[in-house]
Amino acid sequence: MNENQEISRRRTFAIIAHPDAGKTTLTEKFLLYGGAIQMAGSVKARRAQRSATSDWMAIERERGISVTSTVLQFEYEGYKVNLLDTPGHQDFGEDTYRTLMAADAAIMLLDGGKGVEPITEKLYAVCKLKGLPIFTFVNKMDRPSLEPLQILDELKAKLGLDAYPVNWPIGNGPSFCGVVDPLDRRAILFERQDRGAREALSREASLEDPAIAAKIGPDSLAALRDELDMLRTMSLGHDDELVQAGLLSPVFFGSAVTNFGVERLLQGFLGLGPGPHARELKGGGTLEPQDPRFSAFVFKTQANMDPKHRDRIAFLRVVSGRFEGGMAAWHQRLGREVRLSNPKEFFGRERETVTEAWPGDILGLMNAGQLRIGDTLTADKELRFPGIPRFPAEHFGVLRCAPSSRKAFNKGLEELLQEGAIQGFRDGGASGNDLVLGAVGPLQFEVLQYRLAAEYGAKTDLEKLTYKVARWLQGPPDKLAALREASTCRLLEDLDGRPVGLFRDVWSLESTLRNHAGLAFLAVAPVL
Ligand code: G4P
Repeated sequence: MNENQEISRRRTFAIIAHPDAGKTTLTEKFLLYGGAIQMAGSVKARRAQRSATSDWMAIERERGISVTSTVLQFEYEGYKVNLLDTPGHQDFGEDTYRTLMAADAAIMLLDGGKGVEPITEKLYAVCKLKGLPIFTFVNKMDRPSLEPLQILDELKAKLGLDAYPVNWPIGNGPSFCGVVDPLDRRAILFERQDRGAREALSREASLEDPAIAAKIGPDSLAALRDELDMLRTMSLGHDDELVQAGLLSPVFFGSAVTNFGVERLLQGFLGLGPGPHARELKGGGTLEPQDPRFSAFVFKTQANMDPKHRDRIAFLRVVSGRFEGGMAAWHQRLGREVRLSNPKEFFGRERETVTEAWPGDILGLMNAGQLRIGDTLTADKELRFPGIPRFPAEHFGVLRCAPSSRKAFNKGLEELLQEGAIQGFRDGGASGNDLVLGAVGPLQFEVLQYRLAAEYGAKTDLEKLTYKVARWLQGPPDKLAALREASTCRLLEDLDGRPVGLFRDVWSLESTLRNHAGLAFLAVAPVL
């Protein structure tokens, strides 16, 4: 296979969903169709098994949420799929954003009975910020669901997203038995196998097929025909450019638990979805994936993925060129070459060593602290990507710990700060205990304290601070110095030395803005 073929067969995407919409189930079904597992149920089983033997992120289990992202990789019909997992909780929007930086598209999963839910809206907003192409899967159609047209309306009303149905459900709830293409009216009928543990049987049919009338009844069939006529008059159709720009979402209907429509989604998404995209370079221009010079950036680091080894992993997205295990690459921030040895691919938390990778691929490298979020690694010193923006924190506090665990606390906090689990702000030379910590969502503090205790043995107390707004500041030194005197703002520095102002509320921010003309108050950190 030549390099163009290698690149164009890659699909790198994330699934975003409100908790409970069925993300874990759908992921598992993708793996089933991808041949990565033989029987559905094993991912959950594995998860439960692992949970029993390790304390990995036990908070996820206790709270029934997912706060960490991992990557799953598998092959399907000639495609190499990199599926990024995003945290399922809105408090981890920043982590989601970083993960989406490494994705070329997203599948937005909806519960057909609930439509667009609050966290769907939050996660979609993050995708929109990035202009990612969005494919919608309306799940749980085997249960009584909202009218499909109502779902399309909600996409427009709640998200401002135009959508068109790639297929349309036949039946609703217990009578859901297939999907039909609204354009050529060809239907696919499904039959459940082994209670969903194996791929569903499917066959093509026309709407005249007696099995359909038998399953959904003549009235529903007549209503379905009317709906399809209406869809035709609404001329909802495919426009590739709008899809690629994230302005139009292809919509699929199905049920992950019974496997109905899962393979159609996978095929549709892989066929219509974008391959690896070009990436903007710092200072202008873009770098195409076909460029022969190797380049990659770090979008995530994770400490203690394997509690037994206490290791740190840096996740890399390859942007251009060919990656070879053990190769040397220029590390832009450090200004020197580093060797990229022992690269791993992931199946959940299981790892496999890889010898080569191509644009679109996600790799994990052991990280002794030299790889940080936003770092560029390239074969050409001149290539540099812009960093990954930080979100403004809205919750602030200081952590206190007993003197006896101070050493463990400092080590843990340093590693978790590097991971981006929380933001840190300094007042002059303060560090450790005296750092002001900032979170986008309050659950981040809970997870941080939990991890400090579980992974580093450092018990802490959180002293909450009353600030609610943070802004990065830019302007001449004398104007910044004048701000130090302002009673409406606490002036600190982030850990990269950029000045940051903390405010009690938006009114304090606005009054500070009025009184300090000549300074810029930025909601996203200026890229270094
Ligand atoms: P999440 O990762 O998005 O949080 O959701 P997850 O896949 O864990 O699914 C949440 C619940 O919804 C699970 O039920 C799952 O079985 C169910 N579910 C997922 N897809 C479908 C579907 O297409 N149809 C129906 N009817 N249910 C679906 P649970 O009772 O919480 O867990 P379980 O014991 O069934 O696994």
